[in-house]
Amino acid sequence: METLSRQTFYESVREYLRELAESGIDGLPESDETKEKNINTDLFNAQMRTSDSPPETLESLRQKIGDCKLCTLSSSRKNLVFGAGNEKARLVFVGEAPGADEDRQGIPFVGEAGGILTRIIRAIGFTRDEIYICNVLKCRPPANRNPHKEEIASCSPFLIQQLEIIKPEVIVTLGTFATQTLLNTKEPISRLRGKFHLYHGIPLMPTFHPSFLLRNKGNKQYYWDVWSDMVQVLQKLNLPVPEKNQGQG
Ligand code: URA
Repeated sequence: METLSRQTFYESVREYLRELAESGIDGLPESDETKEKNINTDLFNAQMRTSDSPPETLESLRQKIGDCKLCTLSSSRKNLVFGAGNEKARLVFVGEAPGADEDRQGIPFVGEAGGILTRIIRAIGFTRDEIYICNVLKCRPPANRNPHKEEIASCSPFLIQQLEIIKPEVIVTLGTFATQTLLNTKEPISRLRGKFHLYHGIPLMPTFHPSFLLRNKGNKQYYWDVWSDMVQVLQKLNLPVPEKNQGQG
């Protein structure tokens, strides 16, 4: 578009919006997608309002979520994957969404990527029972596709409540979706990882997703990047850092 005609275009749009505003129209009709999202959000709020106070334990939150039907993933899931580990964990890992193995077993990170995460957890001196692991989405997206934004919108309040109940000292987000959801940003993981951010006052360390490490097995640098992120996590928790030399697997 030529500069002049672009200017004319903007002016006529502005004029049109002014006319609409003057005639009392102050918004556009909702798209079906937005409507569906609002209905789901209303449903979620209604579910959470059924008691006067928010759930105080993971068990009561899980009961409240019940047989969730807030989004279409409920129709293809085998199991809702709520989360696993210690309610009093100092450290919480947040992934993206269950895969096929997790969907089958109802437990987060039990497939191949889960094997890598378990190794990371052991390498920093924890067992899976000492920390807490969950995902942004509690149900598996078909064929492991990326989460849709309406799915994140309806499911992420559950994650937020899990974090409110656990009150961890540090959160580690695994990959783009968990990081962008909790930090409410569109920045790529490559720019966000390696330094602490704050999630409601809790230090949050973004790092690469174990599936990314699996897909890039040949690139050992990514493993070292994750290790250096974990070293910072240990330091934040005032825990000793185990020796690890480049060259060790
Ligand atoms: N990937 C995830 O993000 N979460 C899981 O639970 C498994 C694989």
